[in-house]
Amino acid sequence: MKRVKVGLWLWALVLLMGWSATVSSAAFFESRHRRKLMPPDPATTSFELNRVGSSVVFPVHGNVYPTGQYNVTLTIGQPPKPYFLDPDTGSDLTWLQCDVPGAICTETPHPLYRPSKDLVGCRDPLCIALHFPKTPKCDIPEQCDYEVKYADGGSSLGVLVKDSFYFNSTNGVQLKPRLALGCGYDQHSISSNHPIDGVLGLGRGKTSTVSQLHSQGLVRNVVGHCLSGRGGGFLFFGDDVYDSSRVDWTPMSRDYTEHYSPGFAELRFDGKPTGLKNLLTVFDSASTYTYLTSEAYQTLTSSVKRDIPGEYLREDPKDEALPLCWKGKRPFKRVSDVRKHFKPLALDFTNGGKTKTYELPPEAYLIISSKGNVCLGILNGSEVGLQNSNIIGGKFSMYM
Ligand SMILES: *[C@@H]1O[C@H](CO)[C@@H](O)[C@H](O)[C@H]1NC(C)=O
Ligand SMILES: *[C@@H]1O[C@H](CO)[C@@H](O)[C@H](O)[C@H]1NC(C)=O
Ligand SMILES: *[C@@H]1O[C@H](CO)[C@@H](O)[C@H](O)[C@H]1NC(C)=O
Repeated sequence: MKRVKVGLWLWALVLLMGWSATVSSAAFFESRHRRKLMPPDPATTSFELNRVGSSVVFPVHGNVYPTGQYNVTLTIGQPPKPYFLDPDTGSDLTWLQCDVPGAICTETPHPLYRPSKDLVGCRDPLCIALHFPKTPKCDIPEQCDYEVKYADGGSSLGVLVKDSFYFNSTNGVQLKPRLALGCGYDQHSISSNHPIDGVLGLGRGKTSTVSQLHSQGLVRNVVGHCLSGRGGGFLFFGDDVYDSSRVDWTPMSRDYTEHYSPGFAELRFDGKPTGLKNLLTVFDSASTYTYLTSEAYQTLTSSVKRDIPGEYLREDPKDEALPLCWKGKRPFKRVSDVRKHFKPLALDFTNGGKTKTYELPPEAYLIISSKGNVCLGILNGSEVGLQNSNIIGGKFSMYM
């Protein structure tokens, strides 16, 4: 009992440190691995948690570079089976590549998901929410069709089913809610380099896995993740893994309900204003890199370049890892070897007269390439067709 408490406290502490300055989630993460969860108590029903409050924590595997992909393991179905899913705060549907006749699937790490027979109907509130602002066609009233398309060109087409999900909550209770998920029978360009069983939709919409858990009274409507620069990290639902009084919260905009967006930000570099204001900002865990509008990208790269001490670092245009990389005297092993040559970035969000700052220390925007160069993990959004929004990808975020 005591061990668990200590474990949680350590977690919360490092999480908050990560928020303000350093990314020490690796240490954070080790403490989790050593922590033992209490055995589940079969007598406790999930609805009692309404009062108790709980969280679910998942280890995250993967890295921004070189794999460019993260995954969490979810246990789903009857009998329960594990699946690797790509966590995506930018979309609202969790789906698995599905074992139905004639299915078109990409390579998966596990056998395809065998769907339950429990179909979500076309007039079900979840189906309506999923199609909003359009309305579902309902040619087959007992079936809810879906189609998701991702910014990278990937897509999945299928039907919604309900099935059991298994979660170990932080208070030792095993949760076994029935949640809606997509049974995907037509997938394209999913997991070109790394096989994946499906996507874990963590968006703000009613159909996302975290929203469904919240509406069943199982966790509070909070999603957070902390990803280490060295790979790995964790993802959590609910709010009892950190001390919320020590976290800076900023409201998510009501104008951009599709995404986690706190609205417009002002960018600071090394504590000083850059003159860039009104940057519409979206947090998206599935985006490997951070993308800025062309103008912001231009300003940022010239500030970073201007500050680079030429005696230690030289631009290396031959490194194909990313557009902007620098070579040192010796190859770098980790970002901490070079962090002193880079300045922190910050985004200021002002809401109702209060300004909240989201800091990006060098660890949050640099990566080490396979050549041992240090590269900028911030890219020109115009080159990938993003118009006016700035996407804060990967590493560390918490949403409510
Ligand atoms: C997903 O995580 C597992 C460990 O749980 C790992 O073995 C696998 O390589 C990961 N897949 C990707 C695409 O990162
Ligand atoms: C929950 O914890 C038990 C005991 O540690 C473990 O065997 C099981 O795989 C876990 N389930 C999930 C869904 O993580
Ligand atoms: C960003 O990309 C767009 C489209 O490719 C290009 O026109 C623009 O010059 C780029 N901006 C910078 C700063 O490289």
